Amino acid sequence: ISDKIDIKEEIIRLKKEKNAIIMAHYYQINEIQDIADFVGDSLALAQQASQTKADIILLAGVYFMGETAKILSPEKKVLVPDLNAGCSLANSCPAEDFAQFKKNYPDHMVVTYVNTTADVKALSDIVVTSTNAVGIINSIPRDQPILFGPDRNLGNYLQGLTGREMVLWDGACHVHEQFSLEKIVALKKEHPDAQIIAHPECKKPFLIMADYVGSTAALLKYTRENSGQSFIVATEAGILHQMQKFSPDKVFIPAPPNDSTCGCNDCEFMKLNTLQKVYLALKHEYPEVKVEESIRLEAVKPIQRMLDISS
Ligand code: 13P
Repeated sequence: ISDKIDIKEEIIRLKKEKNAIIMAHYYQINEIQDIADFVGDSLALAQQASQTKADIILLAGVYFMGETAKILSPEKKVLVPDLNAGCSLANSCPAEDFAQFKKNYPDHMVVTYVNTTADVKALSDIVVTSTNAVGIINSIPRDQPILFGPDRNLGNYLQGLTGREMVLWDGACHVHEQFSLEKIVALKKEHPDAQIIAHPECKKPFLIMADYVGSTAALLKYTRENSGQSFIVATEAGILHQMQKFSPDKVFIPAPPNDSTCGCNDCEFMKLNTLQKVYLALKHEYPEVKVEESIRLEAVKPIQRMLDISS
């Protein structure tokens, strides 16, 4: 890319010229969040993807988010800035293994978290996100057994909140699993007034210790509306950008990970996306997300079921 190009201006120009929309997840780098037409959590991104009038959706997030958008809007071109932006949680649940696992529980309703591949969604009865999971599980008749996957931490948390025994797939998100309990306790001692807020993908001790547990959108809302002035935030650090934007006078401290050499809690997949890659993807309309039609037709049903309940 030539130095003479103003990438931000070019992105805005290309967006107009091609009737494209940029949707970004809260875990994206600040510059991408700032240039996006829409920034949201997994549920809001899926809702927007199903409603947009744009011809091209550039999904700045990880690959399964692009797949979800494509499944919902097959007639649109869906671009992702970097095809390698995968997801450790989705990777922890290969479709062939999940299909085998599911065979052991033929009477169970299969409820899957949105962080899965299209192939796993195609094996599911209903999809949930961390924003709507409690409501959706509570809407399932109590005598209906449930198989939940792939996040065991979210699954455990939901079992506690809903009082439902569920069969759980043993998967997890590497970012949310890496927080250090010792370091958070030490941080809380240093900042006794700070509230600990955590995403339900964190391990149980963090969720027990937290003052508030919620999806990225719920955590953001909490920090905007709560009278607390400082927060220790146990989720991917990208969300701090919106928190700080909405509450410039409050203090946000990223929860410390186990490995102090990494010094942050960034998802390396989310952070593969850069402004340059957004520009190149819009310019060349590449890389494009493709979902095989037979898989899409199965995968769209559990996603649509979720959207119908969540609307
Ligand atoms: P939400 O956006 O639903 O809070 O989930 C976070 C996440 O795991 C994204 O990969």
